[in-house]
Formats: sequence, C-alpha cells, structure tokens
Amino acid sequence: MRLTQINPVRKYSQGAHRARSDILGATLSFSKEAPTARTFRALRLLSDGEALSGENLARSLGVSRASVRKALACLENVGVELLSERGRGYRLGAPIDWLDRAAISRHLGEHAETFELRVVDVVESTNTMLLEDAVSGAASGVVLAAELQTRGRGRRGRVWHSGLGGALTFSVLWRFEQGAGFLAGLGLAVGVGLVRALRSLGLQDIMLKWPNDLVVRHRKVAGTLVEIHGDVLGPSLAVAGVGMNFRLHPSTRERVDQAVTDLVTEGAPHDRNRLLGEVLLHLARVVDVFRARGFGPLRSEWESYHVHAGRRVIVRLPDGTLEEGAAAGVGEDGALLLQTRTGLRRFHSGEVSLRAVGAGQRRRGAAAF
Ligand code: BTN
Repeated sequence: MRLTQINPVRKYSQGAHRARSDILGATLSFSKEAPTARTFRALRLLSDGEALSGENLARSLGVSRASVRKALACLENVGVELLSERGRGYRLGAPIDWLDRAAISRHLGEHAETFELRVVDVVESTNTMLLEDAVSGAASGVVLAAELQTRGRGRRGRVWHSGLGGALTFSVLWRFEQGAGFLAGLGLAVGVGLVRALRSLGLQDIMLKWPNDLVVRHRKVAGTLVEIHGDVLGPSLAVAGVGMNFRLHPSTRERVDQAVTDLVTEGAPHDRNRLLGEVLLHLARVVDVFRARGFGPLRSEWESYHVHAGRRVIVRLPDGTLEEGAAAGVGEDGALLLQTRTGLRRFHSGEVSLRAVGAGQRRRGAAAF
C-alpha cells in the first residue's frame, strides 16, 4: 500500500452555497460559518462522545473560547449533533468514527498494493479533485476519500449532499491502455463490485437500479458517478466516485425528496473503515476482470442484481420524453435494454422508474403494456 500525507483542508470553498438535494443526503448551507481545520481539530477531541468544557477545548487548541464557539458553530449545517451541557461543556450526540488509512488497508487483502489511499477532511468534490490530480499525473489506483464534501456531484448535473461522518464519499482513479469507448460498461462493473462488497458484509437485500444506483427495497442507499477521459484509441482514464449513506441524520432524511435508507439501518457493520476496505477490495477484483475482458463477463451477474429485471418500467430520457417497456437486461456496453411494442430498444442515459398501474403519462414510440 502506498500512503500519501495530505493537507486535511485543501481547495475548500467558503463561498455561499446552498442547493436542494433531489438525490439524497443533507441539504447543506455554507452561507453561515463553514467547517475549518480548527473545526476538525475540535471534533477530533470530542469524537469519543465524552464531554469537554469550552475551556479545556480552548486550551488544547491554543485558542480562545470564543474561537472554539466559532469553530463549532457550523456543525448543525453538516449533520453533526453538538450538545452543550451546563457545567460539563460540549459533547457530540454520537461519536464520530474517522476514516483511517491504516484501518482501511487492513481489509484490502491481495489488493493492499493496488491502491494509494488519500483521506481528507473536507473537499468540494472527490471526483473533481481526483480528475484534476489525474491531469497532473496521479497514478492508477489513487483513492481519494473525504469526511465531508461541500459540492458533491451526482449524475446528470445534480448535487450530491452528505453529512460529516454520516456517509462514505470517495473516488478511485483507474488508467487503461484501451480507448475511452472500451470503458462504456465500467459504471455497471463498479455496481457489481459494490453489491458484492455489501452482500459480503451481510446486506443480502442490496440490488442495483440502472444505471448504477444501489437500493434496498427500492430505497436508495448509494450512487456512483463514473467520469471518463481519453482518446478513442487509448490510453484513457476513469474516475469512479461513490457516495454511500452510512448513517443518515434525521434532519437529512427530512430534506430528501426520494426514498432513501442507510447502511447502518440495513444492518451493515458500524465501521466505515472496514466498509471502505471491503468495497475497494471488491472494486479491484471487478476492475481486473473488466480491464482484461470488458463488462461482458460481469453482465449476467449485474442482471441478477437488477431490481427492475423483467418489470414494466418507464424511462425518462434526458430531453424529458418517456419510453415504456419491459426491462430486458443490459448490453455489453452497459446500455439498458427495453422491450417495447416496437421492438428491443437500447438506452445509454435516462432515469428508470417502475410503471405505475394506470399511469396516464406522455409516451413516445410505446403502446400500453
Ligand atoms: C448519483 O447517484 O447521482 C451519483 C452520486 C455520486 C456521489 C459521489 S460522492 C463521491 C464522488 N464525488 C462526487 O462529487 N460525487 C461522487
């Protein structure tokens, strides 16, 4: 394993930023006080859940009590519950289990040397930063995990929000000799790796929703954003970003306008380092297969996890039109196959939902099923 020391607060934007989540995670507002390096130092002192007085915190940090108050003022914005108890001081509502490179690497098995782990406290987006690092020559296998993202990005230009310590947000860089076209099915291969990892940890109900959402009983628990760059003839690279709900804060759930759940609720171990280690191990295995033979060998496994397999669904295309048909698997390039009245059709982008019985929706090229 290669370990890299990273400045914990790098490229953090303090600009006002408010966005509403239509995916999952907290709606964060950074228009007030934002987390700083001092916030994280104070949090680490408090992270075992024991109370500490403002005076003790101030002494340990070498700052005034007012500075401690200021550093902690942003916590409600990032999904961290801070209790202030008369006579005892500050205490966290729940202990924080910090990401730790050594603890993650203990779970990497035969792939301990595959990854270069980088863990940061806060970053705008792990995908954005890792893409920048890739341009500067970062090696295949670099993993960037963040305790908090301030501008997390979801698919199709949406915003991805998550609270501090309540999620797993990370990106992995892979370089390929093949051209960018070869990588078309990589996002789905990543989905297979994620399902294998979570099932190996006991979450047997984890399923995939095309293209690459992870769901439990139709509630979203994780999503991936795979960004590809390169020449047609190669080489190429991919940054695969993964956001997993680990322990959703109640305030977070209230703000999300889609059905969501989190890994702890679904029975995952309460250990983010183990979780990340297992996920990376399984991702490394599927990417080895993909690198050698593409998505083909993983395709039927992906289909076995598909929550909509054989079901009647509606696909909303990027231009807003709707297509209806029966989900008929995926192609070797990761396209969704849809059996419509006019024949088998392939989709490379869009949002899939189960067809509501009796739904009178605008459709194109498909008759009622
Ligand atoms: C989606 O479901 O729309 C995909 C969400 C992907 C979110 C992850 S979190 C880590 C990485 N960094 C980002 O900015 N996005 C991805």
